Amino acid sequence: MIVVVGGGTMGAGIATSFLLIGEEVTLVETSIEFIEGAIGRVTESLERLARKRDDLDPAEALTRLDARTDHGSVDAALVIEAVPEDLALKQAMFTSLEEIYPPNTIFASNTSSLSITAMASVLASPERFIGMHFFNPVPVSSLVELVVGESTSDTTVADARAWVERLGKTPIVVKDSPGFASSRLGIALGMEAIRMFESGVASAADIDSAMQLGYHHPMGPLKLTDLVGLDIRLAIAEHLAVELGPRFEPPELLRSMVAEGKLGKKSAEGFYVW
Ligand code: CAA
Repeated sequence: MIVVVGGGTMGAGIATSFLLIGEEVTLVETSIEFIEGAIGRVTESLERLARKRDDLDPAEALTRLDARTDHGSVDAALVIEAVPEDLALKQAMFTSLEEIYPPNTIFASNTSSLSITAMASVLASPERFIGMHFFNPVPVSSLVELVVGESTSDTTVADARAWVERLGKTPIVVKDSPGFASSRLGIALGMEAIRMFESGVASAADIDSAMQLGYHHPMGPLKLTDLVGLDIRLAIAEHLAVELGPRFEPPELLRSMVAEGKLGKKSAEGFYVW
């Protein structure tokens, strides 16, 4: 059994991916309203995938999803959190999870930039803690970035790698460092694209086409920022600016768009109208 804490875009996507390989999944959210939202996201994703896969029955997969506001059974091989990017919140959560789950349960964070070592530092058993960074849209993305903290044991890395391979995804192993490999490179490209748009170098569509057609990226950096959420990317950039220096300082345009509620696809407007 797998436990996913947090049922937003990433948590629902992670839960969906484990349902797809036949696992029982407990999804923990803080309210009935959030649970309903999470179930809606999982259902939509399963139905979308089932249109292309004869072997997938969304109704059967949903019978293996137990969405709830408490932790229920403690018989979990792996607990993955995908709650908001707040170190103190995550540390407090894992401290309480350590009282619930036995020492052989692996604890993983889906954080895209916070320190795995810092997160694990509050635990009595930090060796069972690892970063498992998934990518949006999780059910169709083939990468999981495994982030190895100072205390993460080799056994935990091997177990996490085995889970990623069971999911049919490819793991990369990265030392715990700000932004790991993927967010650091992704934010560098994304922030520069926003600065270019801000200074009128080209339209959003043309900046995106430069990367999509010229470099074979599946989508351009501005559309990707819309997909991930402008607020999410702003938070990562602010964190990296503190950790790695002013080259990651977010452009003023990104700050003002977030302040105006233009968060991308989820608010129906970002660099594009959705
Ligand atoms: N759930 C299930 N299936 C999905 C899905 C979802 N949420 N989203 C897409 N799919 C599947 C569907 O099967 C879909 O086919 P249908 O439209 O027939 O349902 C198929 O993917 C292809 O999707 P589309 O036809 O809509 O479009 P596409 O071929 O252009 O692919 C894309 C869309 C998969 C999003 C692709 O453009 C892509 O991979 N883009 C890059 C995404 C990326 O870079 N992600 C990383 C973001 S960074 C991150 O996540 C980490 C972080 O820390 C913030």
